[in-house]
Amino acid sequence: MHAPRPAARAPLASPLTGPADSPADGPAERPVDGTGNAADGPVTGESLHTALAALLDGLPPRQATQAVERLIATYRGRTPTGAPVLRDRSDVVAYAAYRMPATFEAVRHALGALRAAAPHWVPASHLDIGGGTGAATWATAATCDDERRAGTVYDWAEPALALGCELAADSGSAALRAVRWQRRPIGAGFTLPEPADLITVSYVLGELTEADRETVIDAVADSGRVVAVVEPGTPEGYLRVLRARERLVAAGLRVLAPCPHSDACPIAPGSDWCHFAARVSRSSLHRQVKGGSLAYEDEKFSYVVVARPGVAGRAAEHRVVRHPQIRKGQVLLDLCAADGELRREVVTKRRGTLYRVARDVAWGDGWPPARETRQGTESEPHAEPERESGGA
Ligand SMILES: C[S@@+](CC[C@H](N)C(=O)[O-])C[C@H]1O[C@@H](n2cnc3c(N)ncnc32)[C@H](O)[C@@H]1O
Repeated sequence: MHAPRPAARAPLASPLTGPADSPADGPAERPVDGTGNAADGPVTGESLHTALAALLDGLPPRQATQAVERLIATYRGRTPTGAPVLRDRSDVVAYAAYRMPATFEAVRHALGALRAAAPHWVPASHLDIGGGTGAATWATAATCDDERRAGTVYDWAEPALALGCELAADSGSAALRAVRWQRRPIGAGFTLPEPADLITVSYVLGELTEADRETVIDAVADSGRVVAVVEPGTPEGYLRVLRARERLVAAGLRVLAPCPHSDACPIAPGSDWCHFAARVSRSSLHRQVKGGSLAYEDEKFSYVVVARPGVAGRAAEHRVVRHPQIRKGQVLLDLCAADGELRREVVTKRRGTLYRVARDVAWGDGWPPARETRQGTESEPHAEPERESGGA
């Protein structure tokens, strides 16, 4: 599961990034209604870029670059302490502009997998723990477009909450504007005051001590109907997700994604790590900090989505755990399967529609796709899948 997924999906068109050599990265216009006010529209990666671009507007590029570099240096080699990393507005502007599009896309991918597993389940409430400037809250709004959802963000960094609230006000989404932003530190004795349909814990566990990770996972296991945990797609991030998954399953929740089962992960410890990739448009700020002119990059992440009994949903039969290899007349899929095994399936041309569908399947997708996308498959010549054993 190492190779980043190449550009199978088109990069997001973004007013912040534009094409590689775009001369200006100014905010895009949002449509206005009859009264001249900005009209509400769907929450997308593009609307997030627009809100972030407005935030950076007027901030001298050098100042923004320095703030990002300071933040990167602060995070490097840092062990959890008793104080927030995001201390002031320049920290949070840097975090939001530099990291939020990537964490937004990672959570959006995880919630997309939830949606595929539980297509009719719509959360009436959402709690974003360690939500910072609200990336997972935006991803929830982008995935579940029910404007009546009650949203709450908890974090211990006041400047992050303040900026998140500001961005939400400019989001063009009634659900985001209505979100409550509350200061709440995770620590010993942390519990949640009320249940929530959906709880996200995105890119937070790595900032917590082992004890606080367990505390927060126990709290969400008690209070969430569906819980999504997302971490960076590194060996360490995967291990944190794995520990969280074990704890959530032990508490009686079942896995909806990415794993096709709730049993032990089949990856031999230390041999590999389960992760996926989401394409993210690079902003001009990214290009200033990282150099180069690429218009996008791939954010690697690990995740798990679990649900309480009673949430109508079913994990995919298999998950595609590497970038599929397309050969002449066949597609090679490395899969994690419902029986707890990792295996390779070779989908040959003889399998008709399924072969054509396999050519479009991507790393991270469920397999086979939902029945409605396979219409006709059943009546076509059927061949048993050829299997090879394969590692993760
Ligand atoms: C890397 S940021 C992730 C923010 C957001 N969830 C996202 O996906 O972009 C980590 C967040 O966790 C928050 N955090 C870290 N330790 C915390 C603690 N002990 N209590 C509450 N929030 C905490 C930080 O303030 C920060 O906003």
